Amino acid sequence: MTVAAVPSDPATASPQAPVIPRQRSAPAAELHQPQPWWRDAVIYQVYVRSFLDSTGDGIGDLAGVRAGLPYLRRLGVDGLWLSPFYPSPQHDHGYDVADYCDVDPVYGDLDEFDRLVRDAHRLGLKVVVDIVPNHCSSAHPWFREALAAAPGSPARARFHFADGRGEHGELPPNNWRAMFGGPAWTRTTGPDGTPGQWYLHMFTPEQPDLNWRNPETGRAFERILSFWLERGVDGFRIDVAAGLFKHPDLPDSPDPYADERTRDSVNPLAWNQPEVHEVWRSWRRLCEEATARDGRERLLVGEVSVPTAAEHAAYVRPDELHQAFFFDLLAAPWEAAAFRGVIDEALRDIAGTGSTVTWVLNNHDQVRTVTRYASPSGDADPSGAGTGGPRARAAALLMLALPGAAYVYQGEELGLAEVLDLPDEVLTDPVFHRTGSRLRVRDGCRVPLPWSGHVSPFGFTTGGDARPWLPQPDWFAAHTTERALADVGSFWHLYRDALQLRRSLPHLGEGSLRWLDSPPDVLAFVRGDGLVCAVNFGDGPVPAPVAGPPLLSSGPCADGTLPAGTAAWWSCDPSGVLD
Ligand code: GLC
Repeated sequence: MTVAAVPSDPATASPQAPVIPRQRSAPAAELHQPQPWWRDAVIYQVYVRSFLDSTGDGIGDLAGVRAGLPYLRRLGVDGLWLSPFYPSPQHDHGYDVADYCDVDPVYGDLDEFDRLVRDAHRLGLKVVVDIVPNHCSSAHPWFREALAAAPGSPARARFHFADGRGEHGELPPNNWRAMFGGPAWTRTTGPDGTPGQWYLHMFTPEQPDLNWRNPETGRAFERILSFWLERGVDGFRIDVAAGLFKHPDLPDSPDPYADERTRDSVNPLAWNQPEVHEVWRSWRRLCEEATARDGRERLLVGEVSVPTAAEHAAYVRPDELHQAFFFDLLAAPWEAAAFRGVIDEALRDIAGTGSTVTWVLNNHDQVRTVTRYASPSGDADPSGAGTGGPRARAAALLMLALPGAAYVYQGEELGLAEVLDLPDEVLTDPVFHRTGSRLRVRDGCRVPLPWSGHVSPFGFTTGGDARPWLPQPDWFAAHTTERALADVGSFWHLYRDALQLRRSLPHLGEGSLRWLDSPPDVLAFVRGDGLVCAVNFGDGPVPAPVAGPPLLSSGPCADGTLPAGTAAWWSCDPSGVLD
């Protein structure tokens, strides 16, 4: 694919469209009282296991992340979110935590974590860690103690243990299904082999749900948060943040298979209970106390899957979470109307709370954009050379032009496509194994990153026989960071240039968005003082909404046209673009 050489330095981006210094038109209040950093931050999601391996065991680790910090600094993100690195049996790659205050030896140790935070801060990067409060690992001491304890004991009251239904308690206490397939209950077996009570797990049986109606749980998590705050973290990504509380009576669900079918939190009795908001208020207070001590703003970003944007907005009220991922953008198909619908909804319902919207197109649970946006007509190329690659580039420029914060998932900046042909025997995702091998959804976006060279392991791991924990395809050779950095037409340069422009243009992060009239397959809008972004979702070229060369474009953009599957940014006086 040939792509127009994009300017690498915003200061020399285009002589016709000078870059406006950020402060020039900032409102007076903003000059005196800078907005907290997180409001328009771009955070890079590091899936630690697949980022960079420093020990040669084929699994990424914290020292690898530390070695990659200059790369992230160069890319221009504001910080990084680390997927769980805590001691864990890895039934769900760390989202089954056995000890919340330590590092799994596979990933390093606490000293290495401290070095990582120190180096990140030296480079001006924030560090956000992942906290998993809805459930722990079945290897956590609390759960082991609960299994050994009697029904009704305080140890069991930290979880949801219940007697079964049926004559001999042989049926689960209710009809709930787990998100990853199968019933949400597993029956215990006593030391003498007799079946006992059941316990609740909304994910795998190795992830028992904690009982948040027991005040001990909240107190334990406040201690965990304080532990990491004292180690210098800048924030927490909160796993399953609409979870935690269940309906107190654990009644049957009206549609038990809904969770399993949609893999979304739709069981109204298991998710989104009103009591959860009080937890976020107390965590917010904890963050604010930390800020009062050292002046550093902390961030709570929630993984909030709820049915509507209005319900989502409740999680980012001024005294609750700072951010919550707005997954509707990620879920939108490649259609102008779909994108416009979710953007309008978010700006109305979420930005209306006084928070900012947190945009995301990729993460470790979803098929990558290059593959998702590929046209179904058969031109999907595993390396992204079909329609998917250009569209993913265009979507990135769109996302980075929207008001609010954004998250970029590792490999997105390299234009990685989903690895669709991993052999069954290497798949590790519990979703695959618990759905009778039906759903191959999460391994393909977690394949270790390619850094350099022409053959696997592409610099991901060192050592003679070192093999990445998931096999890398040959076509990763075209996507190594080494090649991306050397090619000004690469995804990497597009992201880097867009991030630089976000820093230098006034109000590109926060501020107003005004739609421009455009053909049905095109979205065009003006931001703040006059940055215009247009995206052509259609199959043919359309006239560009602004005369003159763009500041940045996702693909070749000549002769005042915007080609199919292309996005571009122009800097201009807003009065000049409305006719
Ligand atoms: C979240 C994580 C996912 C994990 C699940 C259970 O959805 O993003 O990876 O499997 O929670 O903790």
